[in-house]
Amino acid sequence: MSEYAIQIENLVKKFGDLTAVNNVSLNIKSGEIFGLLGPNGAGKSTTINMILGLLTPTSGRVLVDGVNMQQHPEKARQEIGIVTQETVVEPELTAAQNLMIFGKLYHIPASELKKSVDFALDLADLNSFKDAYAGTFSGGMKRRLETAKALMHTPKVLLLDEPTTGLDIQNRTKIWGLLRKINKEQNVTILMTTQYLEEADQLANRIGIIDHGRLIALGTPAELRQKIGMSTLIEASADKDDLPKVAQAFKKAGLEPQVPSNKVVAPNTGKAVDKLEKLMRLLSESKVVVHNISMHEPTIDDVFLKLTGSEVRDQTGEDTSRTRVLMGRR
Ligand SMILES: Nc1ncnc2c1ncn2[C@@H]1O[C@H](COP(=O)(O)OP(=O)(O)OP(=O)(O)O)[C@@H](O)[C@H]1O
Ligand SMILES: [Mg+2]
Repeated sequence: MSEYAIQIENLVKKFGDLTAVNNVSLNIKSGEIFGLLGPNGAGKSTTINMILGLLTPTSGRVLVDGVNMQQHPEKARQEIGIVTQETVVEPELTAAQNLMIFGKLYHIPASELKKSVDFALDLADLNSFKDAYAGTFSGGMKRRLETAKALMHTPKVLLLDEPTTGLDIQNRTKIWGLLRKINKEQNVTILMTTQYLEEADQLANRIGIIDHGRLIALGTPAELRQKIGMSTLIEASADKDDLPKVAQAFKKAGLEPQVPSNKVVAPNTGKAVDKLEKLMRLLSESKVVVHNISMHEPTIDDVFLKLTGSEVRDQTGEDTSRTRVLMGRR
């Protein structure tokens, strides 16, 4: 395997006037777990689909294990397993049958097919559900079955487009375990997209943050935190109508607040406790009701907020269009 599992060079995708992916360059090292983090519509799926050769780039190129995807799609695709954003298991078939069909599609010889199916079921911890119909599976089990499917032809690279969106925390953790295992034991390079900060933070060796089609940050989770140069943050939540007053108090306390959907956040420069004390006094004087006030280490969420002025995911649930998209997905 070459040094880089995937090389993306100046990748651009335009849909009419919309530039969905805007000059993205990115190298995924062999053996790493890479998380592409971004909000709805950021360009994650478009990027993944170009890596897969399902979408033709407007310009730029993609190499998979050194092979140019546009020039040699068949060869490049041999090395990729894909778990798409939509669930595609066949509900009327059993887990094993789902895998059989896929194995045949990938021209796995009949003599090896059974072994491949067992290997994949084992990996995804679905052995005991081998003969159960996929339609009866929970969301998390379906995702695991899809992941197993993607690994049937033993690819070197696994691409997953939002593998845990819509899953509860137990199922999400289970998928994380599976991905770690695949990465470690099978030495599979993983490129995954996500809207979940904690997912990128916990799972990925490196994170790329994508917003409006542009790659705006790249590095290990620790590097990203350092990059924004914050030691701690002061955060206060209040009713939406009260946020301007809270922000005003932050300013008077010598802080530089940002106001995403439901809170006021500011990097704490200088003496933390002094500023916090001053802020508390000002807030109490202004008689505004603050639900919660805290000081914490920066998270990837804070990095994103600092870079874009918005949150990756809407925390309030007020943006119903977004909530609906998420709920309707699977
Ligand atoms: N086939 C298409 N034709 C026109 N516009 C498209 C097409 N596919 C995607 N887009 C637009 O390109 C932008 C990027 O979409 P993309 O699906 O890549 O985002 P995403 O980061 O995967 O978002 P999500 O988290 O919702 O899946 C969006 O504005 C989307 O509406
Ligand atoms: Mg998408």
